[in-house]
Amino acid sequence: MNFELKTFDLAGAAAEKCDALIVLLQASFKPGIDVLSGLVAQALKAGDLETKAGKLLQLYRPAGIGATRVVLASVGDGTAREMRQGVAAAVAAVKSSPAKKLAICFSAMPDERALRSAIMAVAEASYVYTSTKSKGEPRLIQRVVIALPTVARLKSVFVQAVAAVAGIEYAKEWANRPANHATPTLLAGAAKSLAKLHNIECEVLGPKEVAKLAMGSFMAVAQGTDEPLRFIVLRYTGAAKTEAPTVLIGKGITFDSGGISLKPAPEMDEMKFDMSGAASVLGVFHALADLQPAINVVGLIPACENLSGGRAIKPGDVVTSMSGQTIEILNTDAEGRLVLCDALTYAERFKPRAVVDIATLTGACMIALGGVRSGLFSSNDELAAALVLAGESSTDLCWRMPLDDDYAEGLKSNFADVANVAGRQGGAITAAKFLQRFAAKFAWAHLDIAGTAWKSGAAKGATGRPVALLLEYLLTAAK
Ligand code: BES
Ligand code: MN
Ligand code: ZN
Repeated sequence: MNFELKTFDLAGAAAEKCDALIVLLQASFKPGIDVLSGLVAQALKAGDLETKAGKLLQLYRPAGIGATRVVLASVGDGTAREMRQGVAAAVAAVKSSPAKKLAICFSAMPDERALRSAIMAVAEASYVYTSTKSKGEPRLIQRVVIALPTVARLKSVFVQAVAAVAGIEYAKEWANRPANHATPTLLAGAAKSLAKLHNIECEVLGPKEVAKLAMGSFMAVAQGTDEPLRFIVLRYTGAAKTEAPTVLIGKGITFDSGGISLKPAPEMDEMKFDMSGAASVLGVFHALADLQPAINVVGLIPACENLSGGRAIKPGDVVTSMSGQTIEILNTDAEGRLVLCDALTYAERFKPRAVVDIATLTGACMIALGGVRSGLFSSNDELAAALVLAGESSTDLCWRMPLDDDYAEGLKSNFADVANVAGRQGGAITAAKFLQRFAAKFAWAHLDIAGTAWKSGAAKGATGRPVALLLEYLLTAAK
C-alpha cells in the first residue's frame, strides 16, 4: 500500500481529487466557512451524523468537492482507539465500492498515537489475503493520502507508521499462509529475501549445523516430520558493530499438531499460525530495512513442524538441550518452549543488551488475557516497563504477568533437570518459568501472543501483532 502525506484541512480537502475522501470528525468540531464543514455542520445539526466513534454519513458526488465519495466518520474525542473505530468503519464502507485512491483528513490535529492508529487501521481494514486464492480479487485500495492540518510535527510519526504497516502486512502474509505454503524452508527463503535489503544479513542453518550446535531440544521437536528444520539468523546492523544488539526470537512452528500428544481436530487448522512469532520477527526486519535506525538487531527463528510419526518424540522422552540441561518431555504439545530454549542459549553468543522472545506459546495465555493484550513476562523491570510503554504508544498492548519462583514447582522432574510441562494451573506462567531457566545470562522478556496473533471465526486471519510493539520498543531504544 502506498501512503502519501499532505498538508490540508477540511477547507483544502474539498479540492483533493480522489475516489473517496474520509473526513475524521472529532466531537469538538467547529465548522469553518468552507463547503465541507458546512455540510458537516448541517448533518450534525439535523441529527444525521452522531459524534460517537464509528458513526458514518456517506455522500456521493457532493457539489463543490473533488472526491467522488465522501465519508464523514465520527471519531469521538479523537483517542487512538476511537480513531481506529472511525477509520475501520469508514474503510469498510468504501471497500465495497470501486474506490482505489483514498484521502483521509482530520477535523483537528491528531496526537501521535491517534495518527499511528489511523494509519494502522486503514491498512488493517483494506488488507486482502490473496496468495493461495486462484481468483483472488487483489486489494483495490492501493493509494492513501493522509492529510494533516500541519505536517511538520508528525512527519516522523507518519514515516514510522507507514514502515510499521508494511512490516505488519509482511508478518500477516507469512502467518496467514497455510503450512504447506510456509514450510521452515520457505520461511528461511523469506528471511533470505529480506537480506537483499540494506544492512540486513541472513544465515540459515539446517539439520546438520543444528546437530553440531547440539540443539537437542529443538531437534527433538523436528524429528517427527520429514520436513527439514531451519534455524534462521537475521542481522540488522544500523550501528557500529561493537554496539550490543537486541535479540528477537520468534517461535517458528509452521504447524503444531501437538505431536504424539495430539490436539483435537476442531480448529486444528489454526495451528498453521503457530509461526506468528517468527512472522513478527520477519515483519520487524522488513520495517528496520525501511527505517534504517542506528541500532543493531538480531533475529533468531527456530522453525520446524510438530507432527507425530514413527520417529516422533514420546511423552517421557528425555532430551539434552544446547545449554546442557536435560528435559523430560511429558507433553509433546508443549513444543514451543522446546525450540525456544535452544534459541535462547544460542542468543548468548551475541552478548545482547536484551533478548525478547515472541511466541504463540500457551492456550492458557489466551484464556487469561483474551485477544486484547499479549502476555509479557520478564525478570527485568526496566525491560518490562519499556515493552509495556511501547505497547501503549503503538496501541499494540501487552500486560505484565508474574514470574514468582513458586510457579516453577510443577516443572520438577524425577528423570531430568526439568519437565516441559507443569499442571494446568497458571499454564502461561509455568511456560515462562521454563524459558527463564535458559535466559539467565541476559536481560530477557517473553511475549506470549497466543491470544493476539490471529483472529478466529469469520474474520479468521493473522493480525500482524506484535510488530508495532516491537518496532516501537526498538526505535525508542535508538533515540
Ligand atoms: N501452539 C500452542 C499454543 C496455542 C494453543 C496457541 C491454542 C493458541 C491457541 C502450544 O504449542 C501448545 O500446544 N501449548 C499447550 C501447552 C500445554 C500442553 C502445557 C497448550 O496451551 O495447551
Ligand atoms: Mn503445541
Ligand atoms: Zn505450539
